[in-house]
Amino acid sequence: MRLRSIPNASEMLPSFSNYVPEPGIFKERWSSYFGNYNEIHLEIGSGKGEFIITLAQNNPGINYIAVERCNTIALKLLRKIPETGLRNLAVTSVDAEHLEEFLREGEIGKLYLNFSDPWPKKRHAKRRLTSPKYLRIYERILKDGAMIEFKTDNRGFFDYSLEQFEDSAFEMVASTYDLYNSDLLEGNIPTEYEMRFHGMGVPINKLIARLDKKKIRQE
Ligand SMILES: C[S@@+](CC[C@H](N)C(=O)[O-])C[C@H]1O[C@@H](n2cnc3c(N)ncnc32)[C@H](O)[C@@H]1O
Repeated sequence: MRLRSIPNASEMLPSFSNYVPEPGIFKERWSSYFGNYNEIHLEIGSGKGEFIITLAQNNPGINYIAVERCNTIALKLLRKIPETGLRNLAVTSVDAEHLEEFLREGEIGKLYLNFSDPWPKKRHAKRRLTSPKYLRIYERILKDGAMIEFKTDNRGFFDYSLEQFEDSAFEMVASTYDLYNSDLLEGNIPTEYEMRFHGMGVPINKLIARLDKKKIRQE
């Protein structure tokens, strides 16, 4: 489905109090943004935010950062927040490549990747959010024992991701090729893409992996 871009989205973003235009300002001091020292969880590629908004509402004792690189989509997410009054959700419109410019080592307690772009062509594999380049970044910003939860409708991308996790400092906790017929469904919060694909009868893949810092390879 094509998204019509909002021409002046970047100018409208700063009017939302949950928007963080320059997240680097809060490196080492996210507590001053959130007003507390609660654990921080991260979602990359939040889309229009159905998932992260519900999660933040359900867990007021956790702070969330939503990273969505597309300004138009970030704006759609931000427009939903005022009616919720959420203060434990920060939204920033940067590419995940720049995570370490605003997160310190071991800062993040959990990471969510929902229906990330699969980049099916082999020559684009480096852009996948579960490629080795990104897994190395996650190994640094996540705390020891932190979980990554990853969902996708794309079986090829899921199999690729299972292989990448195998060759990383993450250990597989659980995985399924059919979330809706598995034990992992309990407590599941569906995303916009998930509702669309599940509604079309496409099986949803999910994995949960835990970081074991002892397994990090020194390069
Ligand atoms: C296919 S959509 C999925 C949206 C949502 N998570 C869902 O499940 O409905 C992927 C989203 O990730 C964003 N995205 C893709 N690559 C990204 C990156 N490297 N950094 C930040 N956001 C990214 C895209 O702009 C898009 O909104």
